Amino acid sequence: MSEVPRRFLLAGVMGWPVMHSRSPLLHNFWFKRHGLAGTYVPLAIAPDGLGAALRALGPLGFSGCNLTIPHKQAAMALVDEVDEVAQRIGAISCVTVKADGALAGTNNDCFGFIENLRQSIPAWRADAGPAVVLGAGGGARAVAFALMQAGVTEIRIVNRSNERAQKLAADFGAPLAAHPWDWRHDALAGAAIVVNTTSQGMVGQPALDIRLDALPASAVVADIVYVPLETPFLAAARARGHQTVNGLGMLLHQGRPAWKAWFGIETEVTNELRALLEDSLR
Ligand SMILES: NC(=O)c1ccc[n+]([C@@H]2O[C@H](COP(=O)([O-])OP(=O)(O)OC[C@H]3O[C@@H](n4cnc5c(N)ncnc54)[C@H](OP(=O)(O)O)[C@@H]3O)[C@@H](O)[C@H]2O)c1
Repeated sequence: MSEVPRRFLLAGVMGWPVMHSRSPLLHNFWFKRHGLAGTYVPLAIAPDGLGAALRALGPLGFSGCNLTIPHKQAAMALVDEVDEVAQRIGAISCVTVKADGALAGTNNDCFGFIENLRQSIPAWRADAGPAVVLGAGGGARAVAFALMQAGVTEIRIVNRSNERAQKLAADFGAPLAAHPWDWRHDALAGAAIVVNTTSQGMVGQPALDIRLDALPASAVVADIVYVPLETPFLAAARARGHQTVNGLGMLLHQGRPAWKAWFGIETEVTNELRALLEDSLR
């Protein structure tokens, strides 16, 4: 008879709504891949219940959880420790229950973005030239932080609301600079990478309104939206011959440090995993 595992491993994602989340598919693939008894569940938590839900993780035997809309900012005030990355980004994407029951918050979205970029385009170099980040919301903060950490020396933040772009540039400082939305077409001149972090192009939203004429042919074009997998922005870039990176890999790679923190296990983003998630989005 095979040995009975000591503990059933538990983790989940708290969101409101949450049933659209692809995270259970991702994490349950890893439980199976590693032959572990455990599960990852969607947890529908209303905003006013977040504090109580987070405090219940430990007593219920959860190793931790991910957070999605609308909880990422609110959790900052509800956990016991917030690491430097989450503090700089201003949002928590992952909570770990420590051995003493304390709740530790971090943000793995920036890791997810840069690891996906590196896996998708191994030749990408931080010193290849300026980066343009379209948008200044939560996703933009994670992307800009990741690019800054990677060593990009000029990051142009272009956002519809100029105030938000200015705030992001002021929060992070050099190498970020805020530019007006009207300038978005010209902001692409000389860029080595451009990343859409706005919600434009997402299912139900109009396509991002931008002309790519000024973008050098060698530039990498990325989108963090992953429904659809290829946004109109990425399709237009591909038609011009650019190397493109979709948003799905960012979601997949941010799960790796979560597994390390929750279960002490190194996981991998394999082609099989990517294909499973891609199929779920078709
Ligand atoms: N792949 C991943 O793992 C991942 C991770 C995080 C987010 N995402 C995706 O990224 C997208 C943005 O998420 P978020 O959390 O950053 O949202 P957010 O904080 O609400 O920010 C939304 C951004 O979109 C801009 N925007 C909205 N409507 C616009 C319009 N009509 N024209 C131009 N800009 C517009 C906003 O500009 P204003 O400031 O002017 O409103 C803001 O910069 C979502 O589709 C989300 O699913 C993906």
